[in-house]
Amino acid sequence: MHLTAEERSWLAGDAGPALRRAAEIVVALGKIYGAERLIPVRSVQISGVSYRNLGPAGLDFLQRWAAESAQVRVPTTLNPAAMDLVNWRRQGFDPDFAEKQQAVIDAFARMGVGEGTPVPTCTPYLVGNVPTLGEHVAWAESSAVSYANSVLGARTNREGGPGALAAALLGRTGAYGLHLDENRCATLRVKVQAVPETIADYSALGAVIGKAAGQHVPFFVGLSLTRDDPLWREKLKALGAAMAATGAVALYHVADVTPEARAGDVLAAGHEALTINALLPGYAMLSDPGNAVDLVWVGCPHASLPEIARITERVAGQRLTVPLWITCARPVLEVATAQGHAATLEAAGARLIADACMAIAPAQTLGFDTVATPSAKGAFYLRNLAGVAAHFGPLERCLGAAIKGRRTA
Ligand code: F3S
Repeated sequence: MHLTAEERSWLAGDAGPALRRAAEIVVALGKIYGAERLIPVRSVQISGVSYRNLGPAGLDFLQRWAAESAQVRVPTTLNPAAMDLVNWRRQGFDPDFAEKQQAVIDAFARMGVGEGTPVPTCTPYLVGNVPTLGEHVAWAESSAVSYANSVLGARTNREGGPGALAAALLGRTGAYGLHLDENRCATLRVKVQAVPETIADYSALGAVIGKAAGQHVPFFVGLSLTRDDPLWREKLKALGAAMAATGAVALYHVADVTPEARAGDVLAAGHEALTINALLPGYAMLSDPGNAVDLVWVGCPHASLPEIARITERVAGQRLTVPLWITCARPVLEVATAQGHAATLEAAGARLIADACMAIAPAQTLGFDTVATPSAKGAFYLRNLAGVAAHFGPLERCLGAAIKGRRTA
């Protein structure tokens, strides 16, 4: 691999042990994936933030880097934590867990993440970190990676936690995978004959395609989606998140909508083809039997302001019998509060939760066994990571469950 003089000096340890370790990680990953050089990145998004997943060893790892005065070189954001960093008591977290989770955030803050005030979210593109067409970034969270590549046309592989942290300290990543033109062509033509309408429908579609597509780059034709749809970004956010959860899709194109599909023919020679006739299997594959619901969770990926406004409108004046938690980035929560949505939601028995993700929270310890969600990705990880039962269904049905206290057909 060709390295610049500065990169070689990092590897030699001239800039201290933290940069040497970071360079070793980035160069080793580059060699594994065949990179010929490193490239500068404009921003980094780091995963591995929940103390539930990191445990004492992960916290110790981060604190050692922070103690060596390691500092990020490019704007860097964090994935969600397990809890709302301000209102964790209301969520039911115990002080010992909260202290450890805060220590994780503090370690990242000392390294300069978020300029010392990290904003944990899986939707950095909703809070000002918006890479542009062709820009190289190093993001870690799979739905954010999918959104950056597909909807924004930026270029990122799906970084692992240590790889992303190392990339942030260097401001570099290896030039391989989706950073290269030749890997951005579609390898699977997907003809959609079912008609997805709602955001949850796009999530169900993504669940089906992700399972079938694996690591392919899908090119969707036949979708009626246009950029005139006020929720077109939210629909693609849901589609990409689901494909990255049930499969490993990190880039997709939608005819006439996503930037690289608008720029010309993105189909690779010798591509495969797939036709999708129904969305129901997407909902069914991520729903457990039974009607009980003890939490309704919306905001996977983190909810945008238009999504929060829709839910507020729907539950205004109602009295929910099951808690409804809407996860979002803290700056989004602040605007939603200023616009009166938070007060309306609270009056109905719903709550905006910042910083957090229920899939990486200790859901059972918080008293939840069955969670309804309009997100395929949320349902996938609730079942496979949080270890609770899930009902994946359209938003209307999830809100109905919050109102009636049970899932209905
Ligand atoms: Fe975000 Fe958690 Fe969903 S990280 S995409 S809310 S599983």
